[in-house]
Amino acid sequence: MNRSGSANPADLVVAMTGGSGAPYAVRLVRVLCRMGRTVQVSLTPSAAQVLRDEMDLEVALEPFDPAPFQEHGPGRVIYHHYQDLHAGIASGSFPTAGMVIVPCSMSTLGAIAGGITTNLITRAADVHLKERRKLILVPRETPLSLIHLQNMVRVTRAGAVVLPAMPGWYHRPRRIEDLIDFLVGRICDQLGIANALAPRWGDEFATTLDQTQWDAAADLEATHPELFEGT
Ligand SMILES: Cc1cc2nc3c(=O)[nH]c(=O)nc-3n(C[C@H](O)[C@H](O)[C@H](O)COP(=O)(O)O)c2cc1C
Repeated sequence: MNRSGSANPADLVVAMTGGSGAPYAVRLVRVLCRMGRTVQVSLTPSAAQVLRDEMDLEVALEPFDPAPFQEHGPGRVIYHHYQDLHAGIASGSFPTAGMVIVPCSMSTLGAIAGGITTNLITRAADVHLKERRKLILVPRETPLSLIHLQNMVRVTRAGAVVLPAMPGWYHRPRRIEDLIDFLVGRICDQLGIANALAPRWGDEFATTLDQTQWDAAADLEATHPELFEGT
């Protein structure tokens, strides 16, 4: 037992830091809650800033209101202030089914790569690595410096999965939500959570175009024939 209630090995940790891509995090927590999972959530002040900038979502770190994340799902959000190193997830004795940092800023990535654990999020990530549990980091930056790349190599060697916020386009997204779900689906895949958030390669979508798409392609070819050379 600890301040987070009874330890449950099915709990998932989702942390948000100040990288761009707040909608991915919100969608992930909502999806997990809808699936009935308990999600241990923490976020940095920069993450709260990005939630405001990108989604007009006002999220206070203290007191925290889980409502925007929890929606109507049967699951629940257990919140921890990012400086609360007494939280259960700061200890390896608190079992979890894995941790995702989404978005993962290059600053937080660098701290994890360097073993620097001065807040709950970097400490929990360090715990997941030492306990050989799943740690998924979702960075977003472009272009990448050698420091970014080397930090990604270091955390990968230590056992983390670097899953950059790079949605694919082969499922022919029509809405921004399709791009978000593509990425959230890949995160769920890594967590071993069955999902149908996005079509998969090999599904029929990849080989068929509807009339609107054919028309759009024809228009594009008329205005930019160079794009179609060799096709
Ligand atoms: C609107 C906004 C977007 C940002 N986007 C990124 C980003 O995509 N990637 C990144 O590494 N940092 C980004 N930053 C910078 C980080 O928020 C900053 O480095 C911060 O210190 C990270 O702190 P944290 O890791 O404690 O959240 C962004 C900042 C703001 C305000």
